[in-house]
Amino acid sequence: MSTTGHEKVESNIGLMIILVILVISVGGLVQIVPLFFMKHTTEAVAGLEPYNALELTGRDIYIRESCNACHSQMIRPFRAETERYGHYSVAGEFVYDRPFLWGSKRTGPDLHRVGGRYSDEWHRVHLMNPRDVVPASIMPGFPWLAESPADADSIRRKMEVLNMMGHGYTQEDIDNAPKQLEGKTELDALIAYLQNLGTSIKSGR
Ligand code: HEC
Repeated sequence: MSTTGHEKVESNIGLMIILVILVISVGGLVQIVPLFFMKHTTEAVAGLEPYNALELTGRDIYIRESCNACHSQMIRPFRAETERYGHYSVAGEFVYDRPFLWGSKRTGPDLHRVGGRYSDEWHRVHLMNPRDVVPASIMPGFPWLAESPADADSIRRKMEVLNMMGHGYTQEDIDNAPKQLEGKTELDALIAYLQNLGTSIKSGR
């Protein structure tokens, strides 16, 4: 009885392993590699700008204070989500988010389209003591942010590092950054960041 190619593979475990690895690798590459070349996953949506110095500082405070432990920034494409929060999130909105803050834990509402929903003054009162505007809120207050000056010492370096990853700040942006933070508190920076969130796509609400 002559052995067929199939029998050879099934009776030789070494050959089987090599062929299985080959098949999985090709399958994986075919799925993953095109993502690097698809514009809508790698390019910014129209109107999206890198965070300015104040927003960038606010974003770091958002991370430091663990706002992302209770708030996601990722609206899923389901009706229950879009009716509540606005247009679902798309990949091109996050190209300047390093690291991204999508999250999945929602103790509080999603914040991806919170930009422009409330006034700066509302955020100021809410962040000092949420119960002053939302009586049943369980969100903690962050009153110390109003007393801490925004950190102007490291902002230029931060922008230079982000430029290495293609954020495209001009030398002028970088030189003016410390001035933009002059006289600002951490609360001002955090509010500037919140007000910019998700505003490059109209929320349709
Ligand atoms: C322990 C969980 C928790 C943490 C931490 C937290 N939040 Fe909240 N947040 C909530 C809850 C719950 C609500 C809903 C009640 C309310 O509006 O206060 C909320 C509401 C909000 C809203 C209003 C959203 C809307 O659409 O009405 C904003 C803005 C917000 N949080 C920002 C922040 C920021 C900024 C931080 C970090 C400085 C933060 N939160 C930290 C739980 C949290």
